[in-house]
Amino acid sequence: MGKEIVMVLGSPRRNGNSDQMAEAFIRGAERAGCCVTKICTEDLNTGCCGCGGCYQNEAQPCCQHPDFNGVARALLRADGVVFAAPLYWSGIPGKMKCFIDNMFCFYAAGKNLARKRTAMLCVGHAEDYMMFDGVQRTFELIAKTVDWSVAGQVYVQGVLDAGDVQKTDGLKRCEELGHRFFG
Ligand SMILES: Cc1cc2nc3c(=O)[nH]c(=O)nc-3n(C[C@H](O)[C@H](O)[C@H](O)COP(=O)(O)O)c2cc1C
Repeated sequence: MGKEIVMVLGSPRRNGNSDQMAEAFIRGAERAGCCVTKICTEDLNTGCCGCGGCYQNEAQPCCQHPDFNGVARALLRADGVVFAAPLYWSGIPGKMKCFIDNMFCFYAAGKNLARKRTAMLCVGHAEDYMMFDGVQRTFELIAKTVDWSVAGQVYVQGVLDAGDVQKTDGLKRCEELGHRFFG
């Protein structure tokens, strides 16, 4: 049985740049024998209001956001969790942040989320890599908080229109990272 990865896509644009990066990573990971479940945060109503009503029973990790309950088990079971996102206002998109906020229910209920592999794939219009600092720092601190080891990060600059990531080496880098994710 191959290792399980959850891919969390944070762009509302289907087949957009970060979606293509996610798919390239998945190709590499599947070549290495991994099994990948892709979650699109755009499809989910998630978040955390700090109500404290976490895990009233095993089927209900979050009493406010039923959408999260459908993916919680996959997250807990996964050997790796990977994020693919466009750069939005120098950070990760709000819906992806809401999804990550929802993971607080694991923490609150003492669920074991530790010791997974993780990676960040991010694309933006900015030419200056410094503009990705906010995403990189946030990602690395989240990984540290939950004790996940970072397998790699791919940041692709200078990409605005959907599909233009194909004009860069970004997809190749994502596929390579997917292939060596657990290596
Ligand atoms: C709401 C919004 C905010 C954005 N903010 C930034 C930004 O702060 N810096 C940047 O370089 N690009 C920014 N962009 C451009 C996107 O990062 C860029 O178009 C990216 O390629 C979109 O990826 P996608 O096709 O996966 O959605 C923004 C785009 C949108 C729609």
